[in-house]
Amino acid sequence: MTVVSAPGKIILMGEHAVVFGKPAIALAIGMRLRCAAAPSAHSTVNGEILTERNSSYIMAAMRGHWSGGPLSFEISSDVPSGSGLGSSAAVTVASLGAMASMNGRLVEEDVARKAFDVESIVQGRASPIDTSVSTHGQGIFIDSQKGPDLLWEISRDTRRWFVHHCDVPEMTMVIGFTGIRKPTGPLVAKVKRYADHSSFAREIVDDIGALTLEGAERLRNKDLEALGRLMTKDHNLLAILGVSSPDLQKLVDASLPHSYGAKLTGAGGGGSMIALTDKPDKVAAAIASRGGIPYVVHTGVDGVRVDGE
Ligand code: PMV
Repeated sequence: MTVVSAPGKIILMGEHAVVFGKPAIALAIGMRLRCAAAPSAHSTVNGEILTERNSSYIMAAMRGHWSGGPLSFEISSDVPSGSGLGSSAAVTVASLGAMASMNGRLVEEDVARKAFDVESIVQGRASPIDTSVSTHGQGIFIDSQKGPDLLWEISRDTRRWFVHHCDVPEMTMVIGFTGIRKPTGPLVAKVKRYADHSSFAREIVDDIGALTLEGAERLRNKDLEALGRLMTKDHNLLAILGVSSPDLQKLVDASLPHSYGAKLTGAGGGGSMIALTDKPDKVAAAIASRGGIPYVVHTGVDGVRVDGE
C-alpha cells in the first residue's frame, strides 16, 4: 500500500486579477488530504466501486495517467470540500502522487501537469493555481511573465502561466467559511463584464496586481504587519469589483480587530475569508460568533509527499 498526502490551499492575494494576467500568490495550508492506494480486484474509493459520482477526479486521473490494473483508494481529509480550500486539487494531486509512487517515481512537476489536466477535464476551464500549490507546497507566485525561482510553465489554449516558488514563513491564518459555496465561473464572468465596460474596473484590476507584487515582497521579508495591511486593501478592491458578499464582509469585519489583515480568498461571493493573525483563538471566536466556520491553519507546509509505502 502506498500512502501519499497533499495539502489544501488559500489564495493569499491576486485572485480575479490573475485572470487578466496579473500575478497571484497561493499558499499551501496545514490541512492535508491522505490517499492510500493499493492494487485490488476492482477499482474502489473508500470501499465503494469507483464511479464518476463518487470521485470524478480519481476516475479521470486513472483514465488519463494509469496503465496498471484496478486500484483501491482510501481517502481521508482535513480539507472541507466545497469551501474553496482546494479539496478537489488535493484529491487529484494525492491520487496522482500515489500512482506515480507505485510506478517508482514521484516527480513534482509531472504531478502538477497531470493534476492540471485532470482538473481541466473535470471542471472545464480551470487555472493551475490549486493543483500547482498543492503539489509544490509552501507557496507559489503565478504570473503571465517568467521571473526568478520558476518552477514550471503551463499553457492551455491561448493562456500561459509561469509558476514560481515562494518562500513562506510559518504564519497562522484563520479561515472563516461562510457555509455558502458559489461556483467560480459566474464570478469570473461578472468581473470580466465589469472590466469590459469600465476603465475604473480595469484600474482596480491593475491596482490589485500592484498590491500583489508588493505582497510578495513583504512575504519574502516576513513583514506580517505590512502584508496584513495589503491583504485588507486587496479585499476592499475585490469588494469594489463586486465579488465580496455580506457574509464575507461580516467575517472580515469581525476578524480585523484581532488581525494584521483579512480578506476574502478565492472566487468570493460566499466561500471563505482568511485573517492573518497572532491571536488565532480570538479571531476564530469572532468568526464563529458571526455565524462562520473557523479553521486555524499554518502555512509553510510540504506539498505532495509520500507518507508510507
Ligand atoms: O475559489 P477558487 O479557489 O477556485 O479561486 C478562484 C480564483 C480566481 O482568480 C477567481 C479564478 C482563477 O481561475 O484564477
